[in-house]
Amino acid sequence: MYHDQQFGSVAEGTPEMLPPDEATVKQGFSLFPSGVVIVTTVDREGVAHGFTASTFVPLSLDPPMILVCLHQKAQCREAFLEAEFFAASVLRPSHNDVAIRFATSGIDKFAGLKLGRTAKGIPVLEDALATFECRAAHNYPGGDHIILTGVIEGVRHAGEREAMVHFARGFHQVRG
Ligand SMILES: Cc1cc2nc3c(=O)[nH]c(=O)nc-3n(C[C@H](O)[C@H](O)[C@H](O)COP(=O)(O)O)c2cc1C
Repeated sequence: MYHDQQFGSVAEGTPEMLPPDEATVKQGFSLFPSGVVIVTTVDREGVAHGFTASTFVPLSLDPPMILVCLHQKAQCREAFLEAEFFAASVLRPSHNDVAIRFATSGIDKFAGLKLGRTAKGIPVLEDALATFECRAAHNYPGGDHIILTGVIEGVRHAGEREAMVHFARGFHQVRG
């Protein structure tokens, strides 16, 4: 142990790493602050599907691309694997209910919600902080998740600068 002016007491040597059991890894993941989106699409019958995701990544500018990760066991898995288009709507702090609703399996996530449809028919949150409409690109295996990538074909954003952040298992607000 030694004393550092900035960090106080600091243990010397290799920090002890814990084995990656699920609870410990989950705890570690929860300490990574992330924005929250809802990812939406429609299937061939015109039925809307969606899920809450914190695994949104602004992936590429040329071409413009995003990625999100979807759990292999999600009910909406097939719809997203078959989708030609999908959209990601970035949530505001006021969207707590939307985040919880789209994270709840087996309910009608779209009932009574203020949703618009893009020209391609994808439901999007009308008052999202930002919205990305994508043509589905490649899917990759990612452990118990599937990595979905999409090429952005349409984007819009509100002028506001307050976003929802998921951190330490709770929803928070960040102002830019
Ligand atoms: C803050 C938050 C972030 C989440 N992020 C993801 C994610 O990135 N990928 C995912 O597959 N599920 C994520 N989930 C869980 C899904 O939203 C939830 O399991 C959803 O109901 C899955 O879709 P289903 O109803 O079709 O099964 C998240 C849930 C919350 C509350």
